[in-house]
Amino acid sequence: MEKIVINGGKPLFGDVEVSGMKNAALPIIFGCVLVGKKCVIENIPAVRDVFIAFSILRAIGAKIRMIRKNTYEIDCSHLKVDAVPYELFREMRASYYLLGAELGRYGYACAGYPGGCNIGERPIDQHVKGFEALGGVVNLENAKITVTTDGNGLVGTNIYFDVVSVGATVNVMLAAATAQGVTTIDNPAREPHIVDLANFLNSCGANIRGAGTDMIKIIGVQHLHGSDYAIIPDMIEAGTFMIAAAATGGCVRVGNVIPKHLESVTAKLQEMGVSVEELDDAVVVKGGEQLRRTSVKTMPYPGFPTDMHPQMTVLLTKAAGVSYLTENVYESRFRYIDELRRMGAQVKVEGRTAVVEGGRKLSGAPVRAVDLRAGVAMIIAGLVADGETEISEIHLIERGYEDIVGKLRDLGADIRTVTVEDPPAVQQAN
Ligand code: UD1
Repeated sequence: MEKIVINGGKPLFGDVEVSGMKNAALPIIFGCVLVGKKCVIENIPAVRDVFIAFSILRAIGAKIRMIRKNTYEIDCSHLKVDAVPYELFREMRASYYLLGAELGRYGYACAGYPGGCNIGERPIDQHVKGFEALGGVVNLENAKITVTTDGNGLVGTNIYFDVVSVGATVNVMLAAATAQGVTTIDNPAREPHIVDLANFLNSCGANIRGAGTDMIKIIGVQHLHGSDYAIIPDMIEAGTFMIAAAATGGCVRVGNVIPKHLESVTAKLQEMGVSVEELDDAVVVKGGEQLRRTSVKTMPYPGFPTDMHPQMTVLLTKAAGVSYLTENVYESRFRYIDELRRMGAQVKVEGRTAVVEGGRKLSGAPVRAVDLRAGVAMIIAGLVADGETEISEIHLIERGYEDIVGKLRDLGADIRTVTVEDPPAVQQAN
């Protein structure tokens, strides 16, 4: 078993380059199934979820080869749609993008029920609604999902989402790109990764307009072709380094970013007294002497991202006074609070709001990464705490952060990964 060990108290200084965005890479990788021709995708982050996606695609016959670091040729010309590696689907959430991609290409799709971080109820009713509106028949049975059509293929239509869902928007875009006629999505997700998927599919010959706005129009095309495409930088990784710099009172230039994608995080940091300078493709973050308290509400983009929630809570422990963080996307995203309390944080949860009594020093402790973003929040907590913090379950952090330990070490953090023996199994008493 591997753990991350941090000796806290050192401010971060220097430059860090952000990797490609996991949540854009995954829909684009599965999008290669829809395209069905060789694609070369650059700036793919070397993270566990990407490698699971590759394993799923290889199991159904895709040829994937690394051309150079973070650049892969993905060839989904010849696939065996029924050779489904069901056990891999529960390893990650985005595995369900195979459904939209296969449905668009073959009029038939088959996948396992998706897994992913345990951050609350994660229904797929909006995905099902979208597939059905396009003419699919969805069958959920024994953790397997199949979608069939009556043989006439998918037909474009108007779809209104009852909730703003990144996953459902991706799946309908994939399925509708080659449907007959025009599909419109009302109330879609507007995240930058939705725009990135649309740009990728358009580079392959699709005709998708309005991605990033409150209505997406997909004019179905008959054929797609391969393309070379570079994935956008990861705004959540960037925001994570921004908060780490602010929390440790350091000064970090976070490079390879699109500052516009970071506006909600930048605004909150500035409100708290952190200096954030926006450059063309970088932000420079300098921690203030005394952070001010604030209130944060997570929202779909362009609101404050739910994927920055746990990191923000750690920063709020450094601000004088009582701060509030309300989670509006995932109701169970608070499981990390118990871990943070082990380090001395004064936080309580009232309904969907974390009430943070800031201004107290955290102290190092053994803690657990309870999910991906919670895990990286524990790293930030370890960086600001006095003494040693040991974080277990770090495979969850590796799902979404490329070489986080190396990048933080280059910024001056005292952080390392260690291999420890697995804890002894608990014996049942006779
Ligand atoms: C994606 C991101 C995840 C991020 C989340 C919200 C990926 C791989 N994951 O997850 O990192 O935290 O967006 O920004 O891109 N919902 C329904 N019915 C549905 C689908 C969703 O009620 O059919 C609800 C969910 O329970 C949740 C909200 O809608 O409350 C948002 O979910 P969604 O945007 O779909 O999240 P994911 O795509 O799973």
